[in-house]
Amino acid sequence: MTAPVKDFSFRGVLCSKDKSDVACWGVTEAKGPLQRLHFKLPPLHDDEVRIKVLYAGMCHTDCSMIDESWGPNAAHPLVPGHEIVAEIERVGAGIDKFKPGDQVCFGVIRDSCGKCELCRRGDDQLCNADMYKVTYDPYLGGYSTSMHVKASHVFRLPAGLPKEKAAPILCAGVTTFAPLRRWGTPGVRCGVIGIGGLGHMAIQFANKMGMHVVAISTSPTKEEEARKLGAREFVCSKVEEQMKHLMKSEPLDIIINTAFIHNITDYLYTLKAGGRFIQVGGPASSKPVVFNMLDLVCAQKSLSGSAAGSHTEVEQTLDFCDRFGVCPIVENYAWADLPKAYKRLQDGLPRYRCVIDVAASFDDKSHVNTASIGTQQSMFNLDSFYVSLWGNAGR
Ligand SMILES: NC(=O)c1ccc[n+]([C@@H]2O[C@H](COP(=O)([O-])OP(=O)(O)OC[C@H]3O[C@@H](n4cnc5c(N)ncnc54)[C@H](OP(=O)(O)O)[C@@H]3O)[C@@H](O)[C@H]2O)c1
Ligand SMILES: [Zn+2]
Ligand SMILES: [Zn+2]
Repeated sequence: MTAPVKDFSFRGVLCSKDKSDVACWGVTEAKGPLQRLHFKLPPLHDDEVRIKVLYAGMCHTDCSMIDESWGPNAAHPLVPGHEIVAEIERVGAGIDKFKPGDQVCFGVIRDSCGKCELCRRGDDQLCNADMYKVTYDPYLGGYSTSMHVKASHVFRLPAGLPKEKAAPILCAGVTTFAPLRRWGTPGVRCGVIGIGGLGHMAIQFANKMGMHVVAISTSPTKEEEARKLGAREFVCSKVEEQMKHLMKSEPLDIIINTAFIHNITDYLYTLKAGGRFIQVGGPASSKPVVFNMLDLVCAQKSLSGSAAGSHTEVEQTLDFCDRFGVCPIVENYAWADLPKAYKRLQDGLPRYRCVIDVAASFDDKSHVNTASIGTQQSMFNLDSFYVSLWGNAGR
């Protein structure tokens, strides 16, 4: 028996170019390839805003979602992207907080209930309500020309932040800022493992928070830049001598790991008694992690994880970046070159985040039916192309 096809028409329906009101880059099956897709969005709800995506960052989580490396059953077609700088295009009937033209941003959390214990204590990123909480899957993410999103989860973009660089703050930024603020204090020695999208933000935050930053990288070519970002020491984890030196030198108080390493024994060893190892990098496989339990029992070291950040933590991250001049280092790409940027991300090459200039370089304008924006046309009028794709989704 084949699994029933789930109806995701509430997020918009895939359609031909001439009927669409948004263009996207997405995949129609696990592992891609990325292709151009067109959707007709549903009518805007009273509590939503329609945002025009100006810039979209590309996070390594997008690769894990496309490849289904954290688990199967993504809603296809899948349109990734959760680092978004945008402009308000339209507001729902119940919204007076925003007006068309406002410069805003949108990140990892699409929705939260506001009522559960976790939401009430301010950990809305951990909301346990049965609802779609993350930006995309099944909804459309930021690899899209426009999106309908709940106004309550939209942030104002501080005027001091450069629009073309700010998008990664919404994921890479808050994901590293939140645990460093939660568990770090000025003066401590902080190790940052992996200098990619997340890691290059972590170095800047920890340095500006007054910590002594030790950057730990597999890439010796990143040393000069890591030091410019605020690292006081640099360790190439591939050079045995440098790792031995790290293990003999003054121990670290905290480590934030933006990569995924199966054997973290040596890293736990480099922590002080009572120190904390914070995992933010997602697993690359289901292989168990190896460490020495005695580090936890006898030296009271902790293993922690952290997911994106709460609404308040996103606001704090944006504010911190604005006040202290923390800014992502980005490679900007045109809309047409999104697959090229994605390939660089897959290959671990970006220095340090690929950002798509969506609005400025969108090359398909004539095919998007902006005249129909917000009209109540039926979204259940599926054409055969749509049926054939959704028929394969099998979620
Ligand atoms: N917790 C959350 O909420 C959250 C949010 C966003 C992303 N993530 C996850 O965080 C991870 C990093 O994301 P990203 O966007 O920063 O990725 P990225 O830009 O590709 O950076 C990852 C960095 O990790 C290092 N690295 C890669 N392979 C490695 C290996 N085998 N061993 C050791 N180091 C390795 C590399 O840095 P060096 O060249 O310096 O070694 C690379 O630049 C991903 O798994 C992503 O899914 C988690
Ligand atoms: Zn992300
Ligand atoms: Zn909740």
